[in-house]
Amino acid sequence: MADSHTKTPLTIALAILAILAFASLFSPVSSYNRPPPRRNLFVPRRRDLDSHSPEQVHISLVGVDKMRITWLTEDSAAAVVEYGTSPGVYTNRENGTTSSYKYALYESGNIHDVTIGPLDPNTTYYYQCSSNSARNFSFKTPPAQLPIKFVVIGDLGQTEWTETTLKNVAKSDYDVLLLPGDLSYADYIQSLWDSFGRLVEPLASQRPWMVTHGNHEVERIPLIHPLPFTAYNARWHMPFEQSSSSSNLYYSFNTAGVHVIMLGSYTDFDKSSAQYEWLVADLKKIDRATTPWIVVLLHAPWYNSNTAHQGEKESVDMKAAMEDLLYQARVDVVFAGHVHAYERFTRVYNGEANNCAPIYITIGDGGNREGLASKFMDPTPTISLFRQASFGHGRFEVLNATHALWKWHRNDDDEVAVVGDSLWFKSLSSDPACRI
Ligand SMILES: *[C@@H]1O[C@H](CO)[C@@H](O)[C@H](O)[C@H]1NC(C)=O
Ligand SMILES: *[C@@H]1O[C@H](CO)[C@@H](O)[C@H](O)[C@H]1NC(C)=O
Ligand SMILES: *[C@@H]1O[C@H](CO)[C@@H](O)[C@H](O)[C@H]1NC(C)=O
Ligand SMILES: *[C@@H]1O[C@H](CO)[C@@H](O)[C@H](O)[C@H]1NC(C)=O
Ligand SMILES: [Fe+2]
Repeated sequence: MADSHTKTPLTIALAILAILAFASLFSPVSSYNRPPPRRNLFVPRRRDLDSHSPEQVHISLVGVDKMRITWLTEDSAAAVVEYGTSPGVYTNRENGTTSSYKYALYESGNIHDVTIGPLDPNTTYYYQCSSNSARNFSFKTPPAQLPIKFVVIGDLGQTEWTETTLKNVAKSDYDVLLLPGDLSYADYIQSLWDSFGRLVEPLASQRPWMVTHGNHEVERIPLIHPLPFTAYNARWHMPFEQSSSSSNLYYSFNTAGVHVIMLGSYTDFDKSSAQYEWLVADLKKIDRATTPWIVVLLHAPWYNSNTAHQGEKESVDMKAAMEDLLYQARVDVVFAGHVHAYERFTRVYNGEANNCAPIYITIGDGGNREGLASKFMDPTPTISLFRQASFGHGRFEVLNATHALWKWHRNDDDEVAVVGDSLWFKSLSSDPACRI
């Protein structure tokens, strides 16, 4: 990957700033020796591809047996995916839609969106986009039943740190990637959304990437571009329609015995909001016999003992509005991002340890250009069991209806993904003391 990256003087200047900022961050919070500062990346369009060639290919689950394929072409190309179970033998074909968007002076390429299936579970499919044989891709569908393996990464961005995290993710297999917000850190520079699409394509074209939004997806500029989430909604269409949500900003899906709920921290969440009403209805529909596990993702953490992002309304008010719902439904785990560090809490409800409440985990340490949030509150709250400001990713392996294994893989010295924290989970649905 590295040779295709352009390192501009601007990125070098930013890197120098990052070095200075980084140097000031050293504090005695952890004995861990952090990796040196890294540069921003910009992944340009491949020169060997013509303007009709697919790029930025990524896939996402649609219902239990379909897959959405999303890609961009610079100039017009057919919204068609050809696919099959043998390399180069495309026995099936599906058409979809093409869209584009404008953002100030920027005009996006053609964004193609095609849903294929029904597909068999745990099966490798080979595919081609826009009938373009210059590039071919493959993905594997998740299994129909447990066990299933998730990767969880937050606040990814596009720096050399991100690159290390993605390399570590690629080292061992998984079924579905979950991202609790803050994807590209494009921050109004729309070409950085394209760069991000290229950076993640090797992974995101092979396994479904299921994401929810963070503050960096909003990109609203008063008067110039008042509409929020334009790039995010156009480029990262998630299966909200299939879960009766009216917004791409929150949705849910079932995969192999796990019900995953993606909440939206930067849209309305109070008790009179559409999101709240949707969440109540979604939780009611869960059948713990078919999905014994409930996993929730959101961006701004409800529990956080880092000094960063304390007291923000997306954390405090959303928790006040929705914590009861998740507790009553016996949600197993809540993953958040936003804080650029790792932190794991015990099972908590209303600020106190509670055996029937979710475990809260902050995994906002994917590797974006803002660096690490290295200052934690002192003393450590008793409900916070493990915290460290290091880049990395998580793996949530759900083995059966009762047991799951969580591991936080620290990027460590950038050579190997070291396991920094690990824990066996027992599902709340299997605990007679927590029966609803
Ligand atoms: C699907 O797309 C192809 C290529 O653009 C077109 O030739 C074909 O007519 C389309 N089929 C349907 C059913 O729309
Ligand atoms: C897929 O593309 C690669 C090059 O990108 C090529 O080596 C390979 O033969 C192609 N496979 C098929 C089945 O077309
Ligand atoms: C998925 O398929 C692989 C081999 O193709 C097999 O080893 C594995 O057990 C399957 N997993 C499930 C959950 O069916
Ligand atoms: C579930 O997995 C755990 C961990 O591997 C194992 O100890 C337990 O016996 C399994 N339970 C069932 C019902 O298979
Ligand atoms: Fe954030």
